[in-house]
Amino acid sequence: MQTNIGFENQKSQDYTIYIDEMQKLKFDCNVAIITNPKVAGLHLNTLLSKIEAKALYVITVPDGEEYKNQKSLDMILESLFNHRFDRSSVLIAFGGGVIGDMTGFAASIFQRGIDFIQIPTTLLSQVDASVGGKTGINNSYGKNLIGAFYQPKAVYIETKFLQTLEKREFGAGVAEIVKMAVTFDQDFFEWLSSHDLHKSEDLALAIQKSVQTKAKVVGQDEKEKGIRAVLNYGHTFAHVIENMTDYSRFLHGEAVAIGMVMANTLAVRLGLLSEDEANKIKDLLQKYDLPTSFCIKDPKAFYDTFSLDKKTKNAKITFILPKGIGGFEIKNDIDSKIVIDVLEEFRDDV
Ligand code: GLY
Repeated sequence: MQTNIGFENQKSQDYTIYIDEMQKLKFDCNVAIITNPKVAGLHLNTLLSKIEAKALYVITVPDGEEYKNQKSLDMILESLFNHRFDRSSVLIAFGGGVIGDMTGFAASIFQRGIDFIQIPTTLLSQVDASVGGKTGINNSYGKNLIGAFYQPKAVYIETKFLQTLEKREFGAGVAEIVKMAVTFDQDFFEWLSSHDLHKSEDLALAIQKSVQTKAKVVGQDEKEKGIRAVLNYGHTFAHVIENMTDYSRFLHGEAVAIGMVMANTLAVRLGLLSEDEANKIKDLLQKYDLPTSFCIKDPKAFYDTFSLDKKTKNAKITFILPKGIGGFEIKNDIDSKIVIDVLEEFRDDV
């Protein structure tokens, strides 16, 4: 199965997302696979057997969000110069979101931009991070604050790579699937509630549906001037949770799960979502053992940390809230007292 991502404003960037067993890829140029030791140990041989290139190199960077930084980026770039890469060369991102974001960013700045391909190996990157061209690295001020919108030439999603995924990593990907269903597609949400993504045929369908949703949204709004911001449902809260726990307690998707529960509580307070709908969403997250609670010891400090979010403009905090299941509202005029009051409800969370 394949989905095309078509950019309304820049057709030259259109590309295809293949959800299938990968066919052999042939390149008449230098190619570097950027990966980490864990993914390389599990799957590199499989990938190598499917790539033919003028010269093929493998560059590994350490595994983990803490290595998505300037140092790793420099290491990748140095390696490309060492191997005499030029403007016709191609990078392949082979791993999860960290590898995809860093590889894409390296491709965007190496000699002012070379082609790259995404071959995501985690559920989160297959359903979300690998599609849409958000690339970048973290710094001491926060996540993804240095980067570029830079689209891959193609995305190859092979669900076979998910067979070695740890349980928590799987759940983290499910959180992003739930995110897309809650904000854009009630039927998909109902379908998810009555199916089990541990079954491979159901998982393949959920990946396909999520990728189609993401492609449609990004094609309309590549630079996140409007509807793409909806893909950040749960993320405004999640980024604060990740920041407050030093990016070490929760996987990103786990923090998003808690963030969605917080956003839902705010949506219930504003009359956008019913208690019953909020509970249905929580039940679905808990079905995949995702965390749905977080103790906010100091709600005011939590609120103040929202200002680091990239979506904050002129000190106005943007909240993406569900409007029923299958709809959304983008709000940037919510009184801080209401938000802090909602955060108070999480003070006694365990
Ligand atoms: N992960 C959200 C986006 O790509 O916009």
